[in-house]
Amino acid sequence: MDINNKIVIQSMLVSDLDLIAENLENDFDDFWNYNVFKSELENENSKYIVAKINNEIVGFAGIWIAIDVPHITNIVVRKSYRKTGIGSLLLQELIKMCKNLNLKELTLEVNEHNLNAIKLYEKFGFIKVGLRKKYYNRTDNALIMTLYDFKK
Ligand SMILES: CC(C)(COP(=O)(O)OP(=O)(O)OC[C@H]1O[C@@H](n2cnc3c(N)ncnc32)[C@H](O)[C@@H]1OP(=O)(O)O)[C@@H](O)C(=O)NCCC(=O)NCCS
Repeated sequence: MDINNKIVIQSMLVSDLDLIAENLENDFDDFWNYNVFKSELENENSKYIVAKINNEIVGFAGIWIAIDVPHITNIVVRKSYRKTGIGSLLLQELIKMCKNLNLKELTLEVNEHNLNAIKLYEKFGFIKVGLRKKYYNRTDNALIMTLYDFKK
């Protein structure tokens, strides 16, 4: 599917969340519940974007900025639209936002078994810089990945 002509990326509002609240787990596999997500959207240190095709929400992503270091908190594509480039577009947009804010690096944690996400981050130049042991459900380790070079 060539999504480039159809996709719109905008700031995410609580009204966007309301549209997908019922489907967060089934359609997106998202690990946040509605209230956690809403408080993230309302957090002044966070910035969220949403991807839409014909007004349907097909993905979302966000960063949290702590003392000049932005951290990706979430990047999720609707299951039926995965592997069509939407994750890449969302990540590109997050990187652009960081550049515009004159931030110098972007970091995140990812489950070491989440190979699709790790490949996505590596494609954009993120490198593995550390490990948080048993970070997910007290079993899976988290890789810490950071992008130091915003040129890509
Ligand atoms: C990770 C995720 C956001 C990727 O979104 P996506 O829209 O499918 O990604 P893209 O189509 O832009 O793919 C970008 C790259 O990721 C890698 N990738 C993504 N899905 C893949 C798959 N199923 N198999 C192999 N590689 C994959 C590839 O390197 C791909 O680049 P390529 O198309 O040039 O080969 C999506 O799989 C998702 O929502 N996963 C569930 C939520 C999640 O785990 N988020 C990450 C939290 S840290």
